[in-house]
Amino acid sequence: MSEIIIKGTNRLGGTLDVQGSKNSSLPILAACVLVDGVSVLHNCPFLSDVDAAIAILEHLGCSVKREGHTLTVDSRNISCYNIPEQLMREMRSSIVFLGSLVSRLDRARVFSPGGCEIGLRPIDLHLSSLRALGLSIEQQEGALFCEAKNGLEGTTISLSFPSVGATENIILASVFAKGRTTVLNAAREPEIEDLARFLNECGCKVYVGSHGTVVVDGVKRAHGAEHTIIPDRIVALTYMSAVAACGGDVQFRNVNTSHFRSVNSVFEAAGCRLEDEGKTLRLVSDGMLRAVRDIRTMPYPGFPTDAQAPVTAMLCTAKGTSVIVENIFENRFNHVGELVRMGADIKVEGRVAIVNGVSSLCAAHVLAVDLRAGSALVVAALKAYGETVISGVKHIDRGYEKIEECLKKLGASIERSAESG
Ligand code: UD1
Repeated sequence: MSEIIIKGTNRLGGTLDVQGSKNSSLPILAACVLVDGVSVLHNCPFLSDVDAAIAILEHLGCSVKREGHTLTVDSRNISCYNIPEQLMREMRSSIVFLGSLVSRLDRARVFSPGGCEIGLRPIDLHLSSLRALGLSIEQQEGALFCEAKNGLEGTTISLSFPSVGATENIILASVFAKGRTTVLNAAREPEIEDLARFLNECGCKVYVGSHGTVVVDGVKRAHGAEHTIIPDRIVALTYMSAVAACGGDVQFRNVNTSHFRSVNSVFEAAGCRLEDEGKTLRLVSDGMLRAVRDIRTMPYPGFPTDAQAPVTAMLCTAKGTSVIVENIFENRFNHVGELVRMGADIKVEGRVAIVNGVSSLCAAHVLAVDLRAGSALVVAALKAYGETVISGVKHIDRGYEKIEECLKKLGASIERSAESG
């Protein structure tokens, strides 16, 4: 177990290549299960969540080879339909293997997934949608026994909330279903489009409309394909928050700026200058930020819940009072207590955080308890006077590839060490 040690207040500058998207890699790796062939995935980040997905693939009988950021998944010999509880609990995304397994083998035995402690995170929408497609699901001692004796049948599913994972599971389960499946009020995140793109490259027929409608026409089989994972918009936004808070001038390469336009306005309102060139983005900040009155997390294309924690950290030293409303997860202010220990003035009332800007933050020994809470602590530590020690680094490693190398490249004073005590 390691710790991250940051000496704050350095100005940040230079160029950073943004890693491939975690939230795209995971469902696409799950999609490899339904492919009868070899899939080659480029731009796959080195992350513990990706390792967890690879462990599931190997357990199911796939062979997986990594060469740098390229993963080659041979899923021709899948025969196992059972994912053990220990592998399921490694991450929330393990649940999307359910849709893929049912497509490939007409059955699956899985457990409730693990993942970050940011709320109840039920899977009721996943299960009711898959049942609507004709899947029989029985729950026994925590395990879900799922079977579609005569295959699945396309239908229309209207989601009560545009859940990302449920939309992915429906798509994965319906690619071989008889007829047409239509999902209304589907999630519209770029990662859904990336999944659809991969599946279509494999010969499936998935259409993602611009207004939350997804249509899947069943095909007979999916063959292997070569695909490049989209850039990670949340990682880009995290590093942008750090540059905004510390002051600096950084060019972010390998981004798709159309994926985070709703957040650009927040950086601009805070006083940063952005130069958006589509695949690169330059952010310039003097580090003297203004508060942003009204940030509300929403399903895409709204402000992403995953960027709420680092942006909150960025606003701790902005002049004035910022108001941040978390609408997606009920327990996503895990970072606030630790930020307050670093001198921030934040009050949380239910789903609302009120951030009164302070003139400076100070170093402390803090604990990351979930992935994005951890990223917020990194942003705060980069801005704080003194040496901050962050433990719970395993959460950060779920989503950020070589975070200390990326930030060091930009001029931060950051090290990773073995955990003391
Ligand atoms: C995905 C992302 C996560 C992001 C989230 C919202 C991945 C691997 N993770 O998570 O980083 O924060 O989208 O953008 O892509 N819900 C239910 N019942 C369900 C499913 C969801 O009530 O069956 C609720 C959840 O508790 C939550 C909300 O819907 O309050 C959003 O969840 P969802 O969109 O499903 O998020 P995930 O797919 O888990």
